[in-house]
Amino acid sequence: MICLGIESSCDETAVALVRDSRLMASLIATQADLHSIFGGVVPELASREHYRFIGPLFDRLIKDSGIHPEEIDAIAVTRGPGLPGSLLVGVAFAKALALALNKPLLGVNHLEAHLLAAGLEQTLIYPAIGALVSGGHTHLYHIASPWDFKELGTTLDDAAGEIFDKIGHSLGLPYPAGSHIDHLAKAGVPSMTALPWPYLDNDNLNFSFSGLKTAAIRYARESVKTQSDLSDFCATLNHVIAGTLAQKTLRAMKAYPVKSLWLAGGVAANSTLRHTFARLAEEHGLPFLAPSPQLCQDNAAMIAYNGFLLLEKGLYHDLDLEAIPRGKKIPHDLRFKDNIL
Ligand code: KG4
Ligand code: ZN
Repeated sequence: MICLGIESSCDETAVALVRDSRLMASLIATQADLHSIFGGVVPELASREHYRFIGPLFDRLIKDSGIHPEEIDAIAVTRGPGLPGSLLVGVAFAKALALALNKPLLGVNHLEAHLLAAGLEQTLIYPAIGALVSGGHTHLYHIASPWDFKELGTTLDDAAGEIFDKIGHSLGLPYPAGSHIDHLAKAGVPSMTALPWPYLDNDNLNFSFSGLKTAAIRYARESVKTQSDLSDFCATLNHVIAGTLAQKTLRAMKAYPVKSLWLAGGVAANSTLRHTFARLAEEHGLPFLAPSPQLCQDNAAMIAYNGFLLLEKGLYHDLDLEAIPRGKKIPHDLRFKDNIL
């Protein structure tokens, strides 16, 4: 089965083809340079750029892969969460293709797709605790199957990636700053006391990073004077964010006995976070699943693969599929073919 994936939830326009569990081709057009001028994504510009890129990108994907569009068995598209105008570009394009090719349409949850992306490279083991850590979201899930995600906790304010980006902006680093901070941290030594560990003195599975952001920006302004200070500060930031995420994830693992630990999202490319989670899994005798760093960033391979997993269970959407913006709950509105589930 060949599944096309379309991603346009934020500032990356992407298309990909997956044949069963194997990636055939994947293209990404990033707008990072454009939004970098403004220090963050400008929604109106993002949707215009998606509209400009999506057609030519699909044409190139078809040419590069050597298949005919008729050979595509289903069209999967990110239906949320994301920027409303950006999501609409991808969803409208997917609906047009589904109609023209007379193939099933699948609306994919972008956050779940990030976590499932590991399945393109490793065997997915259920049930799992999954941490989704990206520029817009920080979520902990119990995952029983590709269509059964239960949210256990989320951020009450800024997402972990947003913290990297905003602190990086205050340091004069380019947007998005996460990978730059990660790179600088490699030469630094983390301090155990310079920054507070945020929102751990409670008994829930939620996160709150805005206090850390304020403290970190103030600390950097007062104490980061040299390149070596900067490296130490970045190492400290990596350490505090990874440690906070790991502590709440450990609580979730204790509350919900599972068979594996998953990590995904753009911030899952962070070396300290990957190392911390790999160790956490190992200490508890669990396999650790995370997409390779290049599959952690926004891409359409994960959307195509998530679409394939739903399609092989006989699940699909109709053309009334709605795009769901960030902050709104994504409905469970998949339909079942032949009542397979
Ligand atoms: O998942 P993603 O590509 O887009 C969203 O859906 O948000 O995540 C982008 C986020 C940005 O905040 C970026 O700074 C962060 O991932 N990021 C990193 C690293 N690479 C990307 N954060 C920390 N360390 C990294 N190596
Ligand atoms: Zn993402």
